[in-house]
Amino acid sequence: MITLTDYADAARERLGPAVWDFVEGGAGAERTLAANLTAFEHVRLRPRVLTGLGLPHTKTEVLGRVWGAPVGVAPMAYHTLAHPEGEVATARAGVPFVVSTFASRTFEDIAAAATAPLWLQVYCFRDRTSTRRLVERAERAGFEALVLTADAPRLGRRVRDLRNGFLLPPGVEPANLTGTGFSAPGEHALAEFDAALDWSVVGWLRSISSLPVLVKGVLTGSDALRAREAGADGVIVSNHGGRQLDGAPATFDVLPEIAGAVSGSCAVLIDGGVRRGADVLACLASGADAVLVGRPVLHGLAAGGTDGVAGVLGVVTDELAEAMLLTGVPSPSDAGPELLTPTEPAAV
Ligand code: FNR
Repeated sequence: MITLTDYADAARERLGPAVWDFVEGGAGAERTLAANLTAFEHVRLRPRVLTGLGLPHTKTEVLGRVWGAPVGVAPMAYHTLAHPEGEVATARAGVPFVVSTFASRTFEDIAAAATAPLWLQVYCFRDRTSTRRLVERAERAGFEALVLTADAPRLGRRVRDLRNGFLLPPGVEPANLTGTGFSAPGEHALAEFDAALDWSVVGWLRSISSLPVLVKGVLTGSDALRAREAGADGVIVSNHGGRQLDGAPATFDVLPEIAGAVSGSCAVLIDGGVRRGADVLACLASGADAVLVGRPVLHGLAAGGTDGVAGVLGVVTDELAEAMLLTGVPSPSDAGPELLTPTEPAAV
């Protein structure tokens, strides 16, 4: 297992084809899904030699907590699709972890296994009482921040799942929600998500909890500023891994606009297509404080449980340290835009 592709290959052999499609797929023609990866293919980093640096360190402060590296786990529903122990096995890898509203293990069990910060990803339901219960339960279990997913007033049109008639296998269910009983993920969203959310939900979340709130799914500078005005402590630049608006831009391409708009006034994280340490360094250079990794974590989990998750994130972190050394960057906060070589716009 040398690269994340090795983990993906191993996972594909273990997961059934419909589960593989659920994990890998995006919305519509999967243009945004592809764009997330392509954006990093165009990055060229400027090496710096003879810097006298020695070994760089990857420690990073995010919302007042020190992470071992600027890399965490993006929220993904139903880790038990990939491994019987699900989110508990993921948490044991000891990496900052955003736990989905649709986690398939209880917050308490996940918290008991975790040694790194846990955040709760919140889908705000029309039923605010059940949303509030979810938040309170996670806060009691020791979760440290709330991540409001703002780009999913309903679930995107996932063509692969529609063709497969994808249903959750028996026994895979949201462990922290009561009274559900939906087996198609999109059905649940259609029935329960509040499609008419507005920015006031940020204030509402702050009023029911003492935890910092981040808004996930921001793709423009103007929305990032609105998030700040609404009281958010951070934004996560995300297009939901290409699973929502097909045709939305690659996250890496809009990161400079967003980092520029908020200019250090709140935390900026990014997810979507991060597969190598050099991708992480490019994100730091473009103004992100940290990145989240999605699908590869489920690949690691399917391929080798906790060790697989730790392996995936270990590969990315080792590659990051190597890229930092070769570009003369002593610590993540020292990465700046001078690391990036402007490239010719891609031929249309
Ligand atoms: C997701 N994502 C997601 N996001 C969210 O806010 N709540 C959720 O429950 C889920 N569930 C989910 C399931 C699966 C199987 C995938 C692949 C993704 C989106 C996720 O947080 C993240 O934005 C992307 O996955 C990041 O892109 P990469 O790293 O997968 O390319």
